[in-house]
Amino acid sequence: MIGVALPLVATTVVFAIWYWFSPKFTDAGYAPAQPVPFSHKLHAGDIGLDCRYCHTTVEKAGFAAIPPASTCMNCHSQVRTTSPLLEPVRAAYRGDKSLEWVKVHMLPEYAYFEHSVHVAAGVGCASCHGRIDKMTVVSQEHPLSMSWCLDCHRNPGPNIRPSDVEVTQMDWVAPPGHSLTISRATGRELNPPTHCSGCHR
Ligand code: HEC
Ligand code: HEC
Ligand code: HEC
Ligand code: HEC
Ligand code: HEC
Repeated sequence: MIGVALPLVATTVVFAIWYWFSPKFTDAGYAPAQPVPFSHKLHAGDIGLDCRYCHTTVEKAGFAAIPPASTCMNCHSQVRTTSPLLEPVRAAYRGDKSLEWVKVHMLPEYAYFEHSVHVAAGVGCASCHGRIDKMTVVSQEHPLSMSWCLDCHRNPGPNIRPSDVEVTQMDWVAPPGHSLTISRATGRELNPPTHCSGCHR
């Protein structure tokens, strides 16, 4: 009995450790290679496109949409039309082959997160994702751990932007002592959940 169970337990433990400590889950710094070397530094930084030009649902939904090839083709039907780097985009646009971006940020399924509530309250993209406009390859800036979520939920004030600062503006830095506790969406006192069922539903 023990002879059978022990190796099994050992394998499970090894798997669990490997699984939880593989980069996807230990998180910060995770930056997988993508099928097309899309650069946020070029498109959001140098060209200055707003995040919502591509991530169209981030204010309305839980999930921030990844743009379809047609969004890229708004420009790339005119710019760099023969670039081999863009062939996967053109193929997807023709309907030949879908473009599969590798997900960078990934919470486990048992943790509930949605963008719209955060963005509406006035938390900027940069507070959670860092300076995406300077990243040639998207890299995860923060651990997305439970304590990371809770640190802000216990004291959101320094991260809430005044209503005249866009949530997508990348270079906004809170002035010393800055704290806002009123939601810019609803005008009521902010109350991010710290009870377990707030994030584990
Ligand atoms: C021209 C379109 C475009 C613009 C503009 C753009 N993005 Fe993206 N974004 C993408 C694409 C395509 C991906 C998927 C490939 C990748 O991860 O690089 C992506 C990925 C991301 C990811 C990682 C998603 C994941 O898998 O976890 C984040 C975070 C992100 N973008 C934030 C931003 C922010 C913040 C801005 C504004 C400063 C922005 N993006 C502007 C197209 C865009
Ligand atoms: C608003 C216009 C615009 C949009 C939308 C756009 N791009 Fe670009 N992209 C450019 C410009 C401008 C360049 C730089 C061209 C140059 O350097 O001459 C570029 C360059 C690139 C390059 C480098 C190509 C090379 O040969 O070096 C890649 C790859 C790329 N874009 C991918 C994408 C992807 C993927 C999307 C959609 C998620 C996208 N772009 C959306 C304007 C755009
Ligand atoms: C409060 C923190 C927070 C803010 C603010 C935030 N994000 Fe995210 N973002 C996350 C987390 C956490 C994930 C991973 C979600 C998951 O795996 O379920 C994520 C994932 C993403 C993704 C991948 C698709 C998805 O929804 O899983 C994109 C793209 C993205 N964010 C873009 C943005 C943009 C653009 C903004 C600003 C308009 C923004 N985010 C603001 C925390 C945040
Ligand atoms: C930088 C600050 C910040 C970070 C980081 C952050 N949050 Fe929040 N969260 C907020 C604010 C502000 C609200 C809005 C509270 C309100 O409107 O009263 C909120 C609200 C929520 C809500 C309530 C949504 C609803 O429908 O009521 C959930 C769930 C949530 N956050 C989950 C998370 C999770 C999970 C993480 C970590 C992956 C996270 N948050 C990280 C600031 C943050
Ligand atoms: C603000 C959101 C939030 C709240 C509130 C919250 N959690 Fe979590 N919890 C998370 C996230 C996000 C993860 C995933 C962390 C990761 O992947 O590293 C997590 C992971 C966990 C895990 C998995 C083990 C671990 O540490 O990775 C357990 C168990 C857990 N939470 C229990 C609780 C309990 C019990 C409470 C109430 C006292 C609670 N959580 C409150 C967001 C939250």
